Amino acid sequence: MKNINPVDTNSWKSLKEHFYKIKDLHMKDLFFQDKDRFHKFSINFNNQILVDFSKNRITSDTILKLLMLAKEVDLSGAIHSMFNGEKINRTENRAVLHVALRNLSNTSITYDNKNVMIDVNNMLEKMKLFSKLIINGTWKGYTGKSITDIVNIGIGGSDLGPSMIVQALDAYRNHLKMHFVSNMDGSHISNVLKKINPETTLFLVVSKTFTTEETLINANTAKIWMNEYFHTNDFLDNHFIAISMNVKNVIDFGIKLDNIFTFWDWVGGRYSLWSSVGFSIVLSIGFSNFLLLLHGAHAMDQHYLNTDFSKNIPVLLALIGIWYNNFFLSETEAILPYDQNMRRFPAFLQQTNMESNGKNVDRNGCFVRWQTGPIIWGESGTNGQHAFYQLLHQGTKLVPCDFIASVCPNNHVLVNHHVQLLSHFFSQTQALAFGQFEINTENKCNNISSPTKDSLYAFPYKAFEGNKPSNSIFLYQINPYNLGALIALYEHKVFTQGVIFNIFSFDQWGVELGKKLAKTISCSLINKSQEIQYDSSTNGLINFYKSFS
Ligand code: F6P
Repeated sequence: MKNINPVDTNSWKSLKEHFYKIKDLHMKDLFFQDKDRFHKFSINFNNQILVDFSKNRITSDTILKLLMLAKEVDLSGAIHSMFNGEKINRTENRAVLHVALRNLSNTSITYDNKNVMIDVNNMLEKMKLFSKLIINGTWKGYTGKSITDIVNIGIGGSDLGPSMIVQALDAYRNHLKMHFVSNMDGSHISNVLKKINPETTLFLVVSKTFTTEETLINANTAKIWMNEYFHTNDFLDNHFIAISMNVKNVIDFGIKLDNIFTFWDWVGGRYSLWSSVGFSIVLSIGFSNFLLLLHGAHAMDQHYLNTDFSKNIPVLLALIGIWYNNFFLSETEAILPYDQNMRRFPAFLQQTNMESNGKNVDRNGCFVRWQTGPIIWGESGTNGQHAFYQLLHQGTKLVPCDFIASVCPNNHVLVNHHVQLLSHFFSQTQALAFGQFEINTENKCNNISSPTKDSLYAFPYKAFEGNKPSNSIFLYQINPYNLGALIALYEHKVFTQGVIFNIFSFDQWGVELGKKLAKTISCSLINKSQEIQYDSSTNGLINFYKSFS
């Protein structure tokens, strides 16, 4: 992977000039001038996902210049380096091979002189075997009862992907009840323990490192809670499975080797849902549906790897994102799924994007002189419409939005809801793009022929300037295959942007300092008599706490 600063490329300079030329163009004029705009700026992925990026402040020239940028920074070389298992995560000296986890065509992928597909296939076999026993009731708890509840204990990448998918694919769920515990706040695990029966619950302790404080404290609480019920630790073999790279720590915790699903350093935490970290997904929707999830992601991987950049969905969405982030200097991107069960998708993408591209040092070791990853946020539609869309439509900030919806609902009973939901999905991007200036529009609806004094007064407040960009990502259905493809799309979008920003997208050193300081402070809190010597603010806060405890 090359280390080219984007701002030093010719295409960056050319994009800057182009920006000043077209920044005030209005989308309503662009659509008016080019009746074919939708066809030019939309891509149909396998007749399953329609990606419409026509409602953006771009022209064909913008795309050409952005594609030049991708070429100049050697995006193509970077993609091949990732898929070929080169150690592109240089600060941790690791390869980045989540694509191998869904490589269902089983082509050999070599890393450290070994075909990683052998391990991947063994892992899939083990997940298939265990999930079958647990789902069909053959796996018994300590007192001989079948499992009814699964509790996934993990945080960050060991929680967000699996919990988001289990919720998104609720329509595919079997009889097992799924629970996710991530937060260190005792309320999280207590709330779950209230709902479950120790005799029929299986805990999955998911932690790549098996050193994460939140996960260990929650796993220990669960173990103690079970012990208080059974008055022995002999239940562990029947009620605890671990998913981790750190076999030694898992064994020390008390989980036997057979009950450990291992994985490898080339799987990054936030890209791990495709590995055994996704075992809760397998348990919830069954192994064959999990395979469909992998199939969808694999299809997107192949699209990313083999499609010319001018028709390549992750590349184009990444470039358009850079257009706003680095030229319009928009700070954020909103993710707006019009699907209630996809409501955790924005939170999932926060980690994918912000932990990957929230970096300020380039691949040459220098501070960057350009913006890197955007702030990701969002909410399900139509809830968001009644909360923050006011700012999207009439605020002073430019917020590029991704609208996500499906043609077919997963709720087959209340189909009329879906028609209404989709009408909002269509109309919001229309309103954002084209706005409304016509003073009489409202009056026309009310059969009033001429504007009143009151309506003239209200005019500036009711005017929508439009020209607010959005992508519409329209899936045939939120099903395992399409969801797999959608997630892979965003993963590759993030990687593409990281390559262009010239940063390392696969480490996360920024989360370490807080963890380290918490350890030191924790000693000060436990040792009541210890004099605390931090800064005056931290001292003040701790002393306030100590005055009550
Ligand atoms: O928050 C930092 C982080 O390392 C994430 O990257 C990771 O997903 C999460 O913590 C959990 O880590 P682990 O799976 O090792 O418990």
